Parts: sequence; structure tokens; C-alpha cells
Amino acid sequence: MNAPTDVLLEALDVTLEYDDGSRRVRAVDGVSFTLARGMFLGLVGPSGSGKSSLMFLLAGLRPPSSGEVRLLGKPLPASPDASASARREHVGFLFQEPFLVPYLSVRENALGHTTDAQASARLDELAAEIGMADKLEERPHRLSGGERQRASLLRALANDPELVLADEPTANLDQTTGRAVIDLLRRQTRAKGLLVVTHDPSMLTGADRVLFLRDGRLVEG
Ligand SMILES: Nc1ncnc2c1ncn2[C@@H]1O[C@H](COP(=O)(O)OP(=O)(O)O)[C@@H](O)[C@H]1O
Ligand SMILES: [Mg+2]
Repeated sequence: MNAPTDVLLEALDVTLEYDDGSRRVRAVDGVSFTLARGMFLGLVGPSGSGKSSLMFLLAGLRPPSSGEVRLLGKPLPASPDASASARREHVGFLFQEPFLVPYLSVRENALGHTTDAQASARLDELAAEIGMADKLEERPHRLSGGERQRASLLRALANDPELVLADEPTANLDQTTGRAVIDLLRRQTRAKGLLVVTHDPSMLTGADRVLFLRDGRLVEG
């Protein structure tokens, strides 16, 4: 059993219902789990099973319809605006659809307009590990899908977050580059927390635990 301070992330019976006017969709249905410090957790499940919805809840990007998410022992505020500072400070989030500011370079997307030499040098090292060293000054429209995904990864890791939530980080990558991305994620979060959503279980060989999601519920593997 880990001491409470060693629990980075907790989902307590969280549910998310979408209401798009005509119908309600229960995308996440009573999910509970704990992610302790140092842990690499995998999440797999078929398309539409609620993986991305769960990730949004965990990052505080959507409030749960019921239940609670606790980050570093504190409940995430219900409103995404109120949870923004906790998210910015502690969580690196990698969206399934890479999201980059089009008029900024990869480096600027990751670091903003910081002139911090140490942060910049660290970014160079991270980029080199995943074959992005020569893309840092490019704008997103000049990148391939896989490169945009890796650029988003660099941004997620840039401020050395306590917890990284990565939604399909290897979806547009070949096996070798996918492996490099997972290895990098793992190494950067070894004393922290990592949750990786993937449809490719071979990417989760190093995971401490794998959760299976089906119709919004956790099921036994
Ligand atoms: N913004 C939304 N509004 C209504 N329904 C949604 C929305 N986003 C996702 N859904 C529905 O919720 C379910 C889970 O979707 P999602 O979390 O994207 O699953 P996954 O990431 O596992 O493919 C699906 O039935 C999907 O159609
Ligand atoms: Mg998804």
C-alpha cells in the first residue's frame, strides 16, 4: 500500500454523460482506479469505449457528471477553468488529435516564448531522442501527422510535469518510432506518473498495470 502522498491520481466512481440534445451518452460509467507515483498505467479498449472521455475527466478538461478525480491528493475543481492552474502546473496532456498553434514553431509550441537556456537545452535532448531535432524551428503545417504528434509530445513534456496523460501517442507512428516515444515517456516519468491510452497493446509491454475499458466501464483483462 502506498502512503497517501504517493498517490498522484485517483478516479473515484467517475461518470461522464454527454447530452447532445436528442440523446444522452454515458461515455464513462463508474470508473475507479489509482495511479501511484512511479507507475506506468496502460489503458486499452475498442474505439468508442470512452478512453478519450476518461482522459478529459482525468485532466480536468471536462467535469465528471458524478464522482471525483483527485490530483496529488486534492479534488480537481468541477470547472475546467478552475482546474486550469493545477493542470498547467502538474499535468502534461497529449491529445489524440495533435493540437498545435499554427503560427508558432515546434519549439515555441513547447516552450512559449521563454528564453530559459536550460529548458531549451532539455527540449533539444528530448527532440533528438524521437527524431525531431531538425524540426524544432518548423511550423506545424510543414510537418507530417506523425511529426505533429511528436511535437505535441514535446509540448506535453516541456515543463517536466508530475503526471503525463497520453491519448494514442503512437497512433500515427511506425513501430520503431512508437517504441522510441514510449521509451521517452517512460524515462521522463519514472519518478512520476504516466497513463498511456493505446489500441496497440504491444506498446504497453513495460506497463505496471493495464486497464481495459469497454462501454465506459473497466473490465477484467
Ligand atoms: N462531445 C461528445 N458529444 C457526444 N458524444 C460524444 C462526445 N465525445 C464522445 N462521445 C461519445 O462517447 C463515446 C466514447 O467516445 P470516446 O471517449 O471518444 O471513445 P474512445 O476514445 O475510446 O474512442 C462514444 O460513443 C462517442 O460517440
Ligand atoms: Mg479516443
